[in-house]
Amino acid sequence: TEKPTALIMIFGATGDLANRKLFPSLYNLFEKGKLDRFAVVGVARRALSNEEFQLKVKESVKENGETDPKADLDEFVSKFYYHSHDVTDSSSYLALGKLSEELDSHYGLNGNRIFYLAMAPEFFGTIAEHLKKDKLTDVSGFKRLVIEKPFGHDLESAKVLNKQIRTAFTEDEIYRIDHYLGKEMVQNIEVIRFANAMFEPLWNNRYISNIQVTSSETLGVEERGRYYEKSGALRDMVQNHMLQMVSLLAMEPPIKLTTDEIRSEKVRVFRALRPIKDGEVNEYFVRGQYDKGVMNEKEVPAYRQEEMVDPESNTETFVAGKLMIDNFRWAGVPFYIRTGKRMKAKSTKIVIQFKDIPMDLYYQPEKTVNPNLLVIHIQPEEGITLHLNAKKSGQGDATPVKLNYANKGIDGLNTPEAYEKLLYDSLRGDATNFTHWDEVALSWSFVDNISKVWENTKEPSFPNYASGSMGPDAADKLLEQDGFFWWPFN
Ligand code: BG6
Repeated sequence: TEKPTALIMIFGATGDLANRKLFPSLYNLFEKGKLDRFAVVGVARRALSNEEFQLKVKESVKENGETDPKADLDEFVSKFYYHSHDVTDSSSYLALGKLSEELDSHYGLNGNRIFYLAMAPEFFGTIAEHLKKDKLTDVSGFKRLVIEKPFGHDLESAKVLNKQIRTAFTEDEIYRIDHYLGKEMVQNIEVIRFANAMFEPLWNNRYISNIQVTSSETLGVEERGRYYEKSGALRDMVQNHMLQMVSLLAMEPPIKLTTDEIRSEKVRVFRALRPIKDGEVNEYFVRGQYDKGVMNEKEVPAYRQEEMVDPESNTETFVAGKLMIDNFRWAGVPFYIRTGKRMKAKSTKIVIQFKDIPMDLYYQPEKTVNPNLLVIHIQPEEGITLHLNAKKSGQGDATPVKLNYANKGIDGLNTPEAYEKLLYDSLRGDATNFTHWDEVALSWSFVDNISKVWENTKEPSFPNYASGSMGPDAADKLLEQDGFFWWPFN
């Protein structure tokens, strides 16, 4: 395939995301020779010279990059320019437009432009409208908007934002980032399902008893209290990452592996998600908030003691939920999800629990045959484990055995790899691993029902889980009432 050529404008170029992920990812693409001609304009409010900016980019690559940067780092940063910007001022956009045209002709960028919004979401709409009005989107090549989360705060605000960006970009030109879709093992869900004769025939309510998706973090809210207080785990993790993983697990096989086919199958999952009614929230969902605790032999504070957090905060830092997908394939199969901050381990994994065999021939008192499990390890380990039963040499009965496959990637925690893939996709024009508006809208409407109830009822038990634990007891009860439990292993 042809290597991409484009001018990449990064709004929020002095921010954390650009620094930790975007610059190192671009460098990796450059170093691997995946880019053709390109230049980058860093856009942010503060005043910086090109040289100062280039120095920052250099440091970012050195500190956050995967590998030791090679000598070509100087050549890489020489393509970086800086524009000090006022997001509400047309003259600022005109100057940016002029710089863009100069760079386009200097580097021969074919009039291709990527606008990457990696900054405070309140400006997304304004920027998009200005890009159109001040003619930055009048290009002879392609124009694409890459936009970070959060995409709105609820369905209503997401609609407003979408309308604003749609004035300047068509749906095809909008790349809504969900960085979980860039993770190697999340992308692997489809391959595991659709490239194996032994899974897809069993992948339904006749053979699967339940599915468990856990994404636990050890970090607390860090310096993001202001944002997180208004968001909480439901909006921060469930509306996007958790529901995206569920849709990949539950979707029908697409006719072809094209962007439109895959996305439309995912949309159908969201359409089949059973909506949670006001009175039912407690039956399906559990919220938690972390208390102080000891992690790594160090005292860590309760959420309510964190910076920029209300000492009586009602914000959830943990969510567990039971999702029902009311279609032919999944009727009756619970999808349990669980995510939270300040939990015992940093780990994302998916457990597919198969139904028990019809009759246990190997039953002994206090020892039943374990169900078969397929575990998909998303992070930090990457791989799959298949839990079976077999007779171990010299023993007479059925014993649990594990088949392990470790994906050889080196995708550690929060590495730029997901971003590297997604940046590359946006440059190549492949929107498959980005969320379509229909997915965003449906997942907000699902989540809105729950957040409405939670916002209006103070949770008296908060804080209800100790830092370093696996969340509140109620999260275990959620499964117990259905006769299941969270599978504990990593
Ligand atoms: C982000 C959330 O989208 O995902 C953060 O805003 C969270 O709160 C992060 O920490 C988790 O991502 P990862 O890749 O570390 O699992």
